[in-house]
Amino acid sequence: MKNVAIVLAAGSGSRFGSPVPKQFLPLKGREVIEHSLDLFDSHTAVDEVAVVLNPQWRDHFEALAARRRWTKLTAILDGGAERWQSTLAAVRHYATHPDCNLLLHDAARPWLSASILQRVTDALLQHQAVAVAIPATDTLFRVAHGCIADVPPRAEFFCAQTPQAFRLDLLADAYRLALQDPSFVATDDCGVLHRYRPDVHIHIVHGSPDNIKITHPLDLTQE
Ligand code: C5P
Repeated sequence: MKNVAIVLAAGSGSRFGSPVPKQFLPLKGREVIEHSLDLFDSHTAVDEVAVVLNPQWRDHFEALAARRRWTKLTAILDGGAERWQSTLAAVRHYATHPDCNLLLHDAARPWLSASILQRVTDALLQHQAVAVAIPATDTLFRVAHGCIADVPPRAEFFCAQTPQAFRLDLLADAYRLALQDPSFVATDDCGVLHRYRPDVHIHIVHGSPDNIKITHPLDLTQE
């Protein structure tokens, strides 16, 4: 089964407070997005790579891609206003390739390692859906009306990272059902699969505390 890495890069980075979306900011001599593209392009378990962009950044990215000549980059897709709409653009693009896995990765996570990616692709040989996560290190509060409503046992909680990888047909089916639901909201694709295809077991592989999502300016200054 083919593994297609989808680099989600259509966000505006409004929380970051920069006019340039964080995935295009410089980080150690390359733009943030180049770090994960370089890894996917060089990793033997990845067959193809697609990037999902805000169309306003297409010219910028095409110039970058012309310079870098990633050999596995086969599609540059237009994303949507919400992250799930950017995923959906990829799901629709690959709809005619049923025998593939999509590995959806945040362009804003430049420190994905080859070993995490290997764990994901190894797990895909046995599982139809794979998530990367690390145990929560901070205690979590459930808050209601500005007060603590519950302090759940921390050992039960993991923090989600990316890539999140799925058999395309299953993810497409989950999105088909989600789009029929007027109350549909999503922050990640595991949430969509878990809600609309609860019959599918999502296998967890260990991520790394380094695999952070660039969210605040300080994140770009850390090693
Ligand atoms: O906004 P957030 O930091 O959670 O975004 C995670 C990733 O999803 C980023 O790489 C961002 O570019 C991407 N994204 C997207 N389309 C959106 C919103 C976010 O591709 N509409």
